[in-house]
Amino acid sequence: MSNNRDEILPSKVPQDSSIRLDLFTWTEVEKYLSKCKGIILPLGSTEQHGPTGAIGTDAITAESVAREVGRRTGVLVAPTQSYGMAQHHLGFAGTMSLQPSTLLNVIHDLVISLAMHGFERIFIINGHGGNIATVKSAFPQIYSSASSMQLSVANSLKCKLVNWFMTPEVFREARALYGDKEGQHATPSEISLTLHVEPSLLSKQYELPDPPPAGPIYDYKDFRRRYPDGRMGSNPFLAKARDGKTFLDQAASALTKDLKNFLNES
Ligand code: NI
Repeated sequence: MSNNRDEILPSKVPQDSSIRLDLFTWTEVEKYLSKCKGIILPLGSTEQHGPTGAIGTDAITAESVAREVGRRTGVLVAPTQSYGMAQHHLGFAGTMSLQPSTLLNVIHDLVISLAMHGFERIFIINGHGGNIATVKSAFPQIYSSASSMQLSVANSLKCKLVNWFMTPEVFREARALYGDKEGQHATPSEISLTLHVEPSLLSKQYELPDPPPAGPIYDYKDFRRRYPDGRMGSNPFLAKARDGKTFLDQAASALTKDLKNFLNES
């Protein structure tokens, strides 16, 4: 890169350079910690989302909601953990999954790293239902390590998991817009959000036959047999970028409130 001054004019500074950890310097992080001990960690998955949905849907959605919450609160946003627990989607090309024990260790190690620097409130914004059980199991493991490592934040460290797609506002809106065609995987609500933040995905949308209804989930071969094109009861053709804008706003509003309460918790 050249040292051309033009490259550091304000208009060239990335819009989110005041809330994204990956765009901070370490000295800025240290300064931030003197004012705020909170951080947002977006968590997604890299897995099939039906024949018309992007593989990165859960990471794209979690990241865009997390950054919007960061913009509204000024709370720092860590780089997205884009790989999650997607064992049951491995029957579809492009899916990349972590075993539950691996994901648990990844979350543990990332949070302990943050705690070592003095972060005390870890707010994980998740985009994938399959991550929930594992991430919840990681929390006691994290508290146990923080204590045994005698970290200065051991007694004040708190982790919280929130799922943008399960906020009551988003849930209600999705049901109102799509009824039972919202389904449970490759849903029009999550696809709408990806169309809003990545309009090029519009070119991949086409009408699909009715999907099988959502049902149980076992391992990946059984999943593919029950849900041959990867959808569980959903009709993603109903997705619209303008709905995605609404979902982003609703999720960010609800989670901004949650985050503020979490930061103020004694
Ligand atoms: Ni998803």
